[in-house]
Amino acid sequence: MIVVPTDRIKAGQILAEEVRDINGRLLLSKGHTIEANHIRIFKIWGISEVNLVGADRHDDTSDPLMDPAMIEQTKKSIETLYCHVDLEHPAIKEIFRIAVQFRCKHNIIVEDDNLTVDNQSIPRHDREKDFLKKLQKKNIILPEIPSVALELEEVIGNPMSSAEHIARVVSRSPSLTAVLLKIVNSAFYGFPSKISTVSHAVSLIGTQEVSVLALGISVLSIFKNIPKETIDMHSFLRHSLGCGLLSRVFAAHKNVPQTEQLFVSGLLHDLGRLILYIYFPDESRNVLARSRNRNKLLYKEEKDYLGCDHAQMGVQLMKQWKLPLILENNVLYHHKPSEAPQSVPAAIVHLADIIVNSLGIGSSGEKFIPPLDHNAWENLELSPSSFETIIGQATHQFQALESILHD
Ligand SMILES: [Fe+2]
Ligand SMILES: [Fe+2]
Repeated sequence: MIVVPTDRIKAGQILAEEVRDINGRLLLSKGHTIEANHIRIFKIWGISEVNLVGADRHDDTSDPLMDPAMIEQTKKSIETLYCHVDLEHPAIKEIFRIAVQFRCKHNIIVEDDNLTVDNQSIPRHDREKDFLKKLQKKNIILPEIPSVALELEEVIGNPMSSAEHIARVVSRSPSLTAVLLKIVNSAFYGFPSKISTVSHAVSLIGTQEVSVLALGISVLSIFKNIPKETIDMHSFLRHSLGCGLLSRVFAAHKNVPQTEQLFVSGLLHDLGRLILYIYFPDESRNVLARSRNRNKLLYKEEKDYLGCDHAQMGVQLMKQWKLPLILENNVLYHHKPSEAPQSVPAAIVHLADIIVNSLGIGSSGEKFIPPLDHNAWENLELSPSSFETIIGQATHQFQALESILHD
């Protein structure tokens, strides 16, 4: 018997152990011969590896050969990004190895942003220690959450909500319906036949899951019209989507229920940075430049310079919008998950953020790889050997979903 990653299973191989989904439902029993359809089902349910009878470890598992010179060059160029991380930690070691391959394959380079500090634009006496107070004092009109999202929150809060109820709420927004159907018809779920109505999606995925998914999409849509000179929104959304997808696959792998909540937590984890970029452009520019010039982590510079970091700012907005508490937990603690009341989901977003930064899929402004919270990592009880398959599944879903960023 040997453990084989899902993306390396071949039709015709035999299961040595039964496979169950995150809810404990039996997907395929021991001794069964695997068919192509089973492999697809395993991927849908986030099964990252299975036990096979007599599998050959060397059976077509090698990656396409890459130019060793190119690998060395990539290693050198990204090493500086890891200056706040322990490269000897087994999890980071594996993330670094995968990141080098991924960046080589997709030609992702480290860009120099040449930021300079403009100390003149913010006289020192204007800086306030507590930026959250400043946020309130300025009486900023924060983006209004769409009414459809408010109704979705009611649906989420009510365990008796019916499929018709959620379908009725979602269909009131044609753009939300279109994006939602695009997601459920993509490799994100991998259903074999086309899903053309919201109620059909609800019957397949579940009321709560569809509601949380729709809520995340509608919150992000608020920021679609941000002018390009303020922030590279496309890059920001790529970072958010990448983190959301990775969080979801990790959640499925860890048997954490409500994987969609993890997806939305990843989508929204750096929401506070958007507030900074939009409402405090001078301060944002300075914080970014100071972190670069001092080789300091951006969230630490935010805390030192502004008195609070983007996680706190994001949660202030989420409280105002009355988003579900678990989302607040995951956003507030995504840089220090071991302090979270619910540390496992926060640690999943934390790990997903580290990986998405390492792979270089978009950016929310951070140049360096954020450090791993070692206690939270121990608590997760994950094996770094599972990363390759999990990242493979999430990036596969990313390619299928990327087009929603342009809608
Ligand atoms: Fe962050
Ligand atoms: Fe992030």
